[in-house]
Parts: sequence; C-alpha cells; structure tokens
Amino acid sequence: MEIPQALADRIDEVITHYPVSKRSATLPLLHLIQEHFGYISEEAITWIAAKLELEPINVLELVTFYPMLRQTPVGKHHIRICRTLSCALGGGYALLDTFCKHANIEKPDGQHHAHLLKSADGKYSVEFVECLASCGTAPVCMINDDFYEAVSEESVPELLKKYQ
Ligand code: FES
Repeated sequence: MEIPQALADRIDEVITHYPVSKRSATLPLLHLIQEHFGYISEEAITWIAAKLELEPINVLELVTFYPMLRQTPVGKHHIRICRTLSCALGGGYALLDTFCKHANIEKPDGQHHAHLLKSADGKYSVEFVECLASCGTAPVCMINDDFYEAVSEESVPELLKKYQ
C-alpha cells in the first residue's frame, strides 16, 4: 500500500487533534484511507494500527461495525439505495432492480440483502443501506456523495448519464 506524501501529511496532522489518546484518531484515519483508496484493505488496517500503536483488531472492529466503511472495492460510481421501512414501502427494492438493469449489473434472483453488486466493467456498484435520514422523501439513494430524494424508476437512466 502506497501512501502518497500529501495523504501521509494529512494523517499526521489529524493525529495531532487527539493529544490525549491517539486511538481517537482511528475513525478519521479510516475515512481518509477510504476516501483515497475507495475501501479499507487488510494492509490499511495493519498500517493504521501500527501508526496509532494499536492492535489490528482494534481497527478492524470499527471497520466491521460501521456500515459506511468498506472492506471491498466498489465500482467507479457507487450507488447506495435505502431499504429501511419508508423507502422499502416507497419502492426501494424495485429501484435497486432498475439501477441494476440500467447499469448492467447482474443480480442473482431473489437477492434482497445488503450484498455489494458490481457491473462486469467495474463502472458501477450498488448496495442496499439502512435509513439515510430522509424518510419523508422516500425512496432515496446516494450516488457517490450525491444524495437523491423521491427517486422514480423512470428517472434512473437519466440519473446514470451523469455518472459515466
Ligand atoms: S427509510 Fe429511507 S431514508 Fe429513512
């Protein structure tokens, strides 16, 4: 794992925000690593642990606890679709199927769980997530860091055009 100098500098700077216990810098560091590499590899977990004088398990337990932290690479454009109550009732499940269809993502029949699915060309990935805190405008989704409310199945092709 190659950490570019700019990222290394940023990491060192972030650690200084936690003079009492470097351990508190674990989450900010995980976010920086994910932002840069797209996911958090085993190597990154070991690297962060060494940097903060922790055991790798101390870092891994955070990675597995928070759903927004990923251990596998996603597509160039990552789509998150809410599947919690309001969005499920508002069509979130059908929305995932529609995204899969238009993004050329093969979805095994009957798979309704939170597995990450990817298109063969690596351009798109999709997954269900839990409540994105906009239940009144269900169904909602995120594409990369962009948030979309009241997403209709009809709007999907147009939406995907923005992410090529
Ligand atoms: S249920 Fe989807 S945003 Fe809350």
